[in-house]
Amino acid sequence: MKNFIKMSHLVLTITLIFIAIACDSSYRQVKVDAENKKKHELISDNFMITTQGEGTSAAGLEIIKAGGNIIDAAVAVSFAISVERPHSTGIGGGGFLIYYDAKTKKSHVYDFREMAPLKSHKKYFVDAEGKQIKDKSLTGGFAAGTPGLVRGLAKIHKDLGKMDWDKTVQPAIKLARNGFKVYPALHNAMSAERDRLLKFTDSKEIFLNKAGEPWPIGHVLVQEDLAKTLETIAQTYGEDFYTGDIAKKIVASIQEQKADMSMQDLAGYEVKKRDAIKGSYKGYEIISMPPPSSGGTHIVQILNILEDYDLKSMGVQNPKTIHLTSAAMQLAFRDRQRYMGDSDFVDVPLKTLTSKDYAARLRKLIKKNKALSFEELKTPSPLGKEPEHTTHFSLMDKEGNIVVSTQTINGWFGSALVAEGTGIVMNNEMDDFAASASGVNLFGALGGENNLVEARKRPLSSMSPSIVIKDGKPVLALGTPSGTRILTCVAQTILNYIEHELPLWEAVAATRYHHQWYPDEIRVDPPYFYTNTKKELQAMGYKINEKGFGCSIQAIANENGKLHGVSDMRGYGQAVGF
Ligand code: DON
Repeated sequence: MKNFIKMSHLVLTITLIFIAIACDSSYRQVKVDAENKKKHELISDNFMITTQGEGTSAAGLEIIKAGGNIIDAAVAVSFAISVERPHSTGIGGGGFLIYYDAKTKKSHVYDFREMAPLKSHKKYFVDAEGKQIKDKSLTGGFAAGTPGLVRGLAKIHKDLGKMDWDKTVQPAIKLARNGFKVYPALHNAMSAERDRLLKFTDSKEIFLNKAGEPWPIGHVLVQEDLAKTLETIAQTYGEDFYTGDIAKKIVASIQEQKADMSMQDLAGYEVKKRDAIKGSYKGYEIISMPPPSSGGTHIVQILNILEDYDLKSMGVQNPKTIHLTSAAMQLAFRDRQRYMGDSDFVDVPLKTLTSKDYAARLRKLIKKNKALSFEELKTPSPLGKEPEHTTHFSLMDKEGNIVVSTQTINGWFGSALVAEGTGIVMNNEMDDFAASASGVNLFGALGGENNLVEARKRPLSSMSPSIVIKDGKPVLALGTPSGTRILTCVAQTILNYIEHELPLWEAVAATRYHHQWYPDEIRVDPPYFYTNTKKELQAMGYKINEKGFGCSIQAIANENGKLHGVSDMRGYGQAVGF
């Protein structure tokens, strides 16, 4: 009997191992424990919010339950995430937001990206010999563009909100005043940026302890100055930030650094309404962000290039699929360098870049089982004539209204400068400009002529709040942080979900990869590809760089009337709803 039990135990174990291998053999994905899964995934009937902050998701829910509409909740979420992810985003930064109105089927696209100060110019970040002065665009006063977040939210709320503005700011004020526990990603950012934070009085007082060390995980981080600033924003519909005492304090801190942002810059900040980038993939409609983001354009371009292949039958992480997808990414990034910039300043051939014909021409360049190299793509692709006509979060309700928004201060803790007495971390979005036509930014992407610094211009972004629609009905709302990887992570998640038909959790959990033409490599996020997959790609001529890249997809799908939220299991965040 004992032997029989032992035998059956052995058989069971072997069977389980086989099942595990078989289940895992098609593609690799992030595995998490049940506790983590519960926090990051939810299915609800009425309303869903996915954000990168637990206090933030709760703030959005609080506003909906108090009678606010989806816009009020998005405003509350924006202010709350400014408090809860001070290393990633904040009122000293900017972003993009798309609201999809289920009734009219119209997308309202808001651009509240930072603008270059009036005194900035093409040679702002190079020395007399034309060499890039790297730290100038990353740390301190020169690195900051004029922030757009507060005026952007005020405009969106004025246009579409329902609840009183000041009520939408309250959850963020509470979060700043009462504090929240430092979580691992915030602690890591404090450690990594310690030396830069030490340079500025308020930055070090808020984000480091008395000994100048990062606050430990679990420490309650209180941001009292920020709470007061948010109170003033609540009372003045945000105007004080641009013309009042807050503005004066920002300018004083910037000018103490001998940098240029002035009261005129703040007062003159303009929120822009834009037309969404629209594309399609095998019957699905794609709605995403136009310039000054490169995101929407290249997501549509990548999907257009890939539309002709049957990727599904090849398999989600088959070397052939990875080859074709990487090549499409490479081709898109080559065009990003050549053509993309703020379309208020330079002509961006959007119609061509997002057209099926152009994608068909690019597709012909992709070789069977052989990588394209940086060198062979060095000559810009001829476009022909442009036709003359013309910390992410997602919310969705049961009617099909959607808000997707990506907001940022750029690098961790932005410029590292907290404007004195305000608690505001100033962005370093000026680094998203090309310092010179061949300069390289924080994300290693090559600069280009169209993205050189100019007064009041907006730096090129990759932020891609995106929506997928089918037959007039919402399918998926998503976006992510992570620099140039944003657009490839969004494109891949869309492909995983609608092309490969992975369940939403798996579509988010699957291993991600990224090719941006330069550097000439496929960068892979953990868990890395299977050894055989890697070897096959190397044999095709790809260099494989196994180095995490931090996308954090916040997705919501509408699945037969049920709202399915997944907040990326790789990071801090939460899906909430009811
Ligand atoms: O606008 C952009 O594309 C960048 N400033 C975004 C920065 C970012 O996602 C940083 N995240 N890791």
